[in-house]
Order: sequence, then C-alpha cells, then structure tokens
Amino acid sequence: MTVNPYPNLFRSINIGKKVIKNRIVSSAHGDGLRDGLINENLIRYYERKAIGGAGLIIAFGSASVYSKASNPKYVSLWDDRNKE
Ligand SMILES: Cc1cc2nc3c(=O)[nH]c(=O)nc-3n(C[C@H](O)[C@H](O)[C@H](O)COP(=O)(O)O)c2cc1C
Repeated sequence: MTVNPYPNLFRSINIGKKVIKNRIVSSAHGDGLRDGLINENLIRYYERKAIGGAGLIIAFGSASVYSKASNPKYVSLWDDRNKE
C-alpha cells in the first residue's frame, strides 16, 4: 500500500474569505521577462502556472514602484503603460 506523504496538499484552505483549492503555491519571484511590461507574454507565464494546478500564485516578484530603482527585467509598476 502506498502512503501519501502529503495528505494535506490537495485539501482546500481559506485565507480570509477566499478559498484556495489546494496548498500548492507559486511563491514570489522575479519573472525576468525583460521589458517590465504586463503583456501577453507575462500573462501567459502566470496562466501556465494556474493551468498546472497551483492554488495560489504570488505575482510580480521584484516588481519596482519607483523608476529610478527599477530593473527592467521585472514588472515596472510605476510605468503608466501598465495601467491599462
Ligand atoms: C530564485 C528566487 C527568487 C525569489 N524572488 C523573490 C521575489 O522577487 N520577491 C519575494 O518576495 N520573494 C522572492 N523569493 C522568496 C520566495 O518567494 C520564497 O518566499 C522563499 O524562497 C521561501 O520559500 P521556499 O522555502 O519554498 O523556498 C525568491 C526565492 C528564490 C529562490
């Protein structure tokens, strides 16, 4: 008989009023997709994590809020082009 070493992994969990369908988390990390823009490429990147089954995805690691301290590899939240 196979013993499941992670009995809670596929159990849902509540965070406040939100139900998270499992305990699989994609933790924050810089995506490194180069141009700092929230574009189709970036959306597909996070979409693939969701399709893969992650219950919680923390997006935009290493994002910058100030242009002078910005690394263009990561999302530029200060850039008006990301407001749309
Ligand atoms: C390569 C790498 C990049 C990361 N980038 C970020 C980040 O941009 N922002 C952040 O808040 N945490 C970042 N982290 C921290 C992770 O989100 C996570 O909190 C940390 O790795 C602890 O989780 P773990 O024990 O499962 O590795 C990074 C971790 C790694 C290994």
